Amino acid sequence: MSDERYLTFALGKGRLANKTLELFEQIGIHCEEMKDKSSRKLIFQNDELKLRFFLAKGPDVPTYVEYGAADIGVVGRDTILEENRNVYEVLDLGFGKCTMCVCGPASARELLQHHERIRVASKYPEIAKDYFYNKKHQTVDIIKLNGSVELGPLVELSDVIVDIVETGSTLRENGLEVLEEVCPLSARMIVNPVSMQMETDRIKSLVNKIRAKLEEKKQ
Ligand code: PRP
Repeated sequence: MSDERYLTFALGKGRLANKTLELFEQIGIHCEEMKDKSSRKLIFQNDELKLRFFLAKGPDVPTYVEYGAADIGVVGRDTILEENRNVYEVLDLGFGKCTMCVCGPASARELLQHHERIRVASKYPEIAKDYFYNKKHQTVDIIKLNGSVELGPLVELSDVIVDIVETGSTLRENGLEVLEEVCPLSARMIVNPVSMQMETDRIKSLVNKIRAKLEEKKQ
């Protein structure tokens, strides 16, 4: 045990990280230091279990994992699809469930049906491109935005948006609706391919424990 190296986790900041830490606690992985919200510390350690954790912006998590700066990452499937990094996706953690959708005013439905060359605003240009070009074979103009994407059709920047819908209230409050569903999303665990080979037993045992806990919670 003593010559084991530290396994490093990169967790997407915010609700996802909190949920992940809750789940880890349920299988006996604690990181008390991380609960201190006033701390500006960036890396947290559990010396007993030889684990290290750090928080990162969601889109950076697959980057840390691809380069091996973190062995394991937890991030939304939206980010995994958008970043398209060389990582293994090993587990659906089941929380953070939502749907990637094409949304817009009801009047845009026709533009989609007739495969017109429309403008699509999104924080996820790669997902939007893949959906329209590869799945629908529709040529569109994609405009990258960094947030509040629903503004796109409201101020006539775009005809539709490709964005995450969770409760649907942002759409409803702005007179927009889901026009097409692109794919389901939730939090996923990803692993660096080299770490997977070098630390197979530790990583598999961790994944199995989490999977068993998730199954138990479903019942
Ligand atoms: C996300 C998403 C939608 C909203 C959907 O935005 O981009 O705007 O949540 O949630 P709802 O269906 O429950 O209303 P987020 O709050 O992450 O902020 P952003 O718009 O700045 O990306």
